[in-house]
Amino acid sequence: MPNRKYIVGNWKMNGLQSELSDISGIAAIAAANPSVDAAICPPLTLIASASSQNPAFAVGAQDCHYNEKGAHTGCVSAAMIKEAGASLSILGHSERRADQHETDAEVKTKAEAVHAAGLGAIICVGETEEERDAGKAVDVVCGQLEGSFPAGADANWLTIAYEPVWAIGTGRVPEASDVEEMHAAIRSALGRLMGDGADAVRILYGGSMNGGNAAELLAVPNVDGGLVGGASLTAAKFGPIIEAAAAA
Ligand code: 13P
Repeated sequence: MPNRKYIVGNWKMNGLQSELSDISGIAAIAAANPSVDAAICPPLTLIASASSQNPAFAVGAQDCHYNEKGAHTGCVSAAMIKEAGASLSILGHSERRADQHETDAEVKTKAEAVHAAGLGAIICVGETEEERDAGKAVDVVCGQLEGSFPAGADANWLTIAYEPVWAIGTGRVPEASDVEEMHAAIRSALGRLMGDGADAVRILYGGSMNGGNAAELLAVPNVDGGLVGGASLTAAKFGPIIEAAAAA
C-alpha cells in the first residue's frame, strides 16, 4: 500500500498573477505537513511564476500534447511544461474528455510523453451519472483505465485519479462504500495491467472533496489522496485537506 497521501489541486481555468499568493500560502502549509505529498496544477500561464516563487513545492500542468514539438497550434509539449517548472501533469480529465473529445488512446500517449520527459502523470477516469445509474460504473472506469494505461507504468511516476463526473463541482459525493468499491476495482485492474507494482500506485479520489469531507474520504481503503478543484483555490480551503491527509 502507498504510505504517503497525495493531495493535488486542479485550478482548472482559474488564476491570474494576483492569485499567486494563494499558491505560496498553500506551499507553506504543505511544507508544514511533510508527511503528505501536495501539488497545485494552475493554468499554464502561472506555472513558471508559481514554481520559481515556491521552489520546494510541486507545481503541475493540467494537460500536455503527446508530440515533442510541431504544428499543433495552441498546444504545449511535456518538455515545455517541464522547462516552465512543472514536475507533473494531470491527463485525461473528464472536462477534457468531454470538451476536447480526448480519447483513451490519446491519454495513453500523453502519459508516455510525460514520462519520457521525466514528469509525473495523473490519469483521470470516472463515470457519468447515466453510466452509474445503468450499473456500468466499474466497467466504464476500468475500461478507461485499460485504454489509457501507458507503457512502462510505474508508481514512481504514475497516479490514477477516480473522479465521478457527476460529483465534480456539484457538492455531491458518492457513498463511502461506492468509493471503496471503485478504488478496489481500480487496484485490481492495475494488478492485471502491471502485476505486483500495482500496490504502490496511488489512487486519488476527486469530486467535491473539501475540508469537511476529506478525512472521511481519505480513510476509505485504497484512497491514497485527493484531486481537488474548487476547494484548492485558496490556502484557507485547501490547507485543511492537506492537514486531514497528514492526520489520516
Ligand atoms: P471539484 O473539487 O471542484 O469538484 O473538482 C474536482 C475535479 O475535477 C478535480 O480535477
